[in-house]
Amino acid sequence: MMMAMMPGLAACCVDAAGITAPSPCRTRAPPRRAAYFRRRMITAAAMTAPEKAEVLRSLDGWAESNLLPLLKPVERSWQPHDLLPDSSSPGFREAVDELRARAREIPDDYYVCLVGNMVTEEALPTYHAALNSFVGYDSPSCADAWARWSRGWTAEENRHGDLLNRYLYLCGRVDVRRVEQTIHHLIAAGMQLAAGGCPYRGFIYTAFQERATAISHGNTARRAAALGDASLARVCGAIAGDERRHEAAYTRVVAELFRRTPDAAMRALGYMMRERILMPAHHMFDGRDAELFRHYAAVAQGLGVYTTADYAGLVEFFVERWGVAELGHGLTGEGRRAQEYVCRLPERVRRMDARRRQTQLQRVPFSWVFDRQVELQL
Ligand SMILES: [Fe+2]
Ligand SMILES: [Fe+2]
Repeated sequence: MMMAMMPGLAACCVDAAGITAPSPCRTRAPPRRAAYFRRRMITAAAMTAPEKAEVLRSLDGWAESNLLPLLKPVERSWQPHDLLPDSSSPGFREAVDELRARAREIPDDYYVCLVGNMVTEEALPTYHAALNSFVGYDSPSCADAWARWSRGWTAEENRHGDLLNRYLYLCGRVDVRRVEQTIHHLIAAGMQLAAGGCPYRGFIYTAFQERATAISHGNTARRAAALGDASLARVCGAIAGDERRHEAAYTRVVAELFRRTPDAAMRALGYMMRERILMPAHHMFDGRDAELFRHYAAVAQGLGVYTTADYAGLVEFFVERWGVAELGHGLTGEGRRAQEYVCRLPERVRRMDARRRQTQLQRVPFSWVFDRQVELQL
């Protein structure tokens, strides 16, 4: 989630591959979908945005059987209240005191990472709107599989911000008002999404983000356990578990897009990698530090919560999972160039990381932890 940062806003997605050549089929009666897309694979012409939207619509039955089972029923899902002191219990105050005593042993850099993760989760309204722009529906009562997935995913995600927010409120280690202002700023600022409204790019983005957040929450869980706070480790671990299921879902979607329309999927992946997968919270602002996201990402890097090496590992993982290196016929020249770029990317990212490690350590104040200084390397 703290991927390399690049400026630049993607243009709106008239065509995800940037090519707007009209389909030769437009003047004829619409062909049957499967045969049509098979032919597109053979001719490997660039797909237009409406054609991609049509692929998504044709996958509704697939989503019903491959995606929806990855949502957990409400009755079997954890809720934030399960992982925090029970406010209706007579032992509530004592439990909060214990939570706060454990929190006093945890260093500020950890809390900077946890607040950054929480703020990112709390901007869920932005992500829900973005997801709906990929799957192409707008009715809240829509019963198709994509709509049910989007609502179910949002409901699961909603618990993440709630849980971290409540924990951070109780722990007494962070300036809650500053953190709340950061959330307010972030939701109001929205996000830069290179995907535009293109489903291919959008699902690639979400697959990367879900895996990145699974890594990040998993690492804050491990770190809390190492610092002796098993309760906080369970908090972060519960969220990481959800993120892994979500990652599995979006990875499946992209795998299916590669299977059905490899050239369009390859171009979309190449485009997203060239644009860089920007963290959804890179507009975060606390009212003071204009480089807050950059500073927070550097702390996460230093603490090993999310690193550039993790990003290189993500690219490698998806190259392998989606069989990118093995794609052969069916790719256009543009698709082959994208394939080559993506396959070489992990090595390039690692070289950049080695250069970054030669920079000086510095100390930066974070308003989230009452302006105390935290060490980082930019
Ligand atoms: Fe989440
Ligand atoms: Fe997620």
